[in-house]
Amino acid sequence: MCGIVGYVGSEDAAEFLIDGLRRLEYRGYDSAGVAIVCEDDIAVTRSVGRIQSLADRLGTPPPGTLGLGHTRWATHGPATEENAHPHIGGDGEVVLVHNGVIENYQILKDGLIEKGYHFKSATDSEVIAHLVAEGLSNTPAIEDQPHARYVTAVQWAIAQLRGTYGLAIVFRDKPGFMIAARFGSPLVIGVGRGEYFVASDASPIAGRTDRIVYLADHQLAVLTADGFSVLHRDSGKVRVNIQPLEADSGEVSMNGYDHYMLKEIYEQPDALRNAMRGRLNDQDATAVFGGLNLTPQQLRGVERIILTGCGTSWHSALVGEYMIEELARIPVCVEYASELRYRNPPIENNTLVFGITQSGETADTLAALNETKRKGHRTLAICNVVGSSIAQASDGGVYLHAGPEIGVASTKAFTSQCCVLAMLALYFGRMRHMSFETGGRIIEDLRRLPATIEQALTCDAEVRRVAEKYQSATNVLYLGRRYNFPTALEGALKLKEISYIHAEGYPAAEMKHGPIALVDADTPSIFIMPRGTTYDKVLSNMEEVKARGGPVIAIASSDDTEIRKIADDVIMIPEAPEFLQPIVSVIPLQLLSYHIAVLRGCDVDKPRNLAKSVTVE
Ligand code: AGP
Ligand code: GLU
Repeated sequence: MCGIVGYVGSEDAAEFLIDGLRRLEYRGYDSAGVAIVCEDDIAVTRSVGRIQSLADRLGTPPPGTLGLGHTRWATHGPATEENAHPHIGGDGEVVLVHNGVIENYQILKDGLIEKGYHFKSATDSEVIAHLVAEGLSNTPAIEDQPHARYVTAVQWAIAQLRGTYGLAIVFRDKPGFMIAARFGSPLVIGVGRGEYFVASDASPIAGRTDRIVYLADHQLAVLTADGFSVLHRDSGKVRVNIQPLEADSGEVSMNGYDHYMLKEIYEQPDALRNAMRGRLNDQDATAVFGGLNLTPQQLRGVERIILTGCGTSWHSALVGEYMIEELARIPVCVEYASELRYRNPPIENNTLVFGITQSGETADTLAALNETKRKGHRTLAICNVVGSSIAQASDGGVYLHAGPEIGVASTKAFTSQCCVLAMLALYFGRMRHMSFETGGRIIEDLRRLPATIEQALTCDAEVRRVAEKYQSATNVLYLGRRYNFPTALEGALKLKEISYIHAEGYPAAEMKHGPIALVDADTPSIFIMPRGTTYDKVLSNMEEVKARGGPVIAIASSDDTEIRKIADDVIMIPEAPEFLQPIVSVIPLQLLSYHIAVLRGCDVDKPRNLAKSVTVE
């Protein structure tokens, strides 16, 4: 996880480092640090907590035109100052920041301790710093090749690492020089005029330069203020592919909202409009996608679809399963990305694999896609972040165009993913048995959706009242059936992650097979039950909970007046066809978790222990 920044140029490095770390803080925020290379020393400052505490600790930063920084999401060792990056190798001749996990760190550490290296942290990352120092001690300088010794030492060190790394490394005896290296953790280089920026993604660089290089796995970049080159870890120089970078500021304002999450909840009508823009074709009553990179013949030949992702994206995969199987009649299988890679399921020919991801950086999803691609299956991404690792690694895909999602709790990405999956279901359906008339009706349903979501958002005041009533609960059950079963899972995840209340989502009928034992007067059950095929069955499930003294809250259709007689609290949502209901019914659940988290004084946008982008397996 974590965010890395680096600066090489002629300006004071600290300004970019701190600003860049703020923009990367979504990747990890338990501790942070910077190293600024001065005349004959490297000044390292570290601090537990957010970037602001680091900035406070730094005060007036030391002058220096080369430096690196890190915001951490701990994998090895708690969030303490000793474990914060940068880490120092040898006697201070190497200073580095690391993003990722070194799986064989213990064995390497034992070997280095035997050689006399002293470890000050519990991290796996410190091993790399000492290993580079060891590499330097074994590598003589080469005349006329001032960088060769340092590059060789880094190549030697990283060749021994098992796991993933994004690295930025500076050297006490070689001021004005930095090496960056990547394997499995993203790293980009911003190419300015007489200055270069290193970062975990483009956000710190946007607005500073419009040229970017995405390092590939096994690549190393060697940077000075006069230029940079890219090498393969084992072979020599590689051709650098400099790409244009859009010149926005990379910073997203809260637009007057108290939190990014709330802003993003309210952005959903527009996000859905953007997801559909240019993708609905009335003439053929179908959807169109520019980036699938598959011929119509190949797409018609698809016999099975695998949808994979993690967390909220896995929930939208479940919604997609229902949509595609019902509308396109193609068998769909949903896999946790973290299981797909290692479970090694048999996958038939003509199977299409979709990785669903907001960030495009989730390590589990990337690994699952790479594994299925390696086996010869076509992999596509449904992704929000343009140019992200997963977008680049897949054969093609569909961007959400939802705009940056900053809050750790995913909201607009979920509804946009569901919307893209609905369009894919329409697309595949129309390639097969679906009639022109049905296709046209689905297009109309989709077009109405943003306005329906606008209407759904008007439940906010009522949701806030319900939040006040149940804010002290310690357990909450979320129950729904068919399309609203994934919504139940998503509602429960939202509550857990930002308010730290234990919550479970179940198919409503499954409750009687065990979870009903949890029901008591202090455990509210939230039934997601807009009118539809299983409405009456869910109503019976609700009665069962009520009969056992559990408080019941209904998320129900606006014309359902009867439900008020049964449920303790009712939140009304507008009508929508069943296949689009999850997109509508999740709105009150997002708002409920938001209000409860605020009432409980939780840090909504940066909940404890989490990070926005999970780049470790
Ligand atoms: C959602 O609220 C979570 N923070 C998390 O489950 C997230 O959806 C998951 O980590 C996957 O992220 P991605 O969509 O960026 O791949
Ligand atoms: N594994 C390293 C640590 O625990 C890096 C974690 C990160 O990527 O933030 O410090």
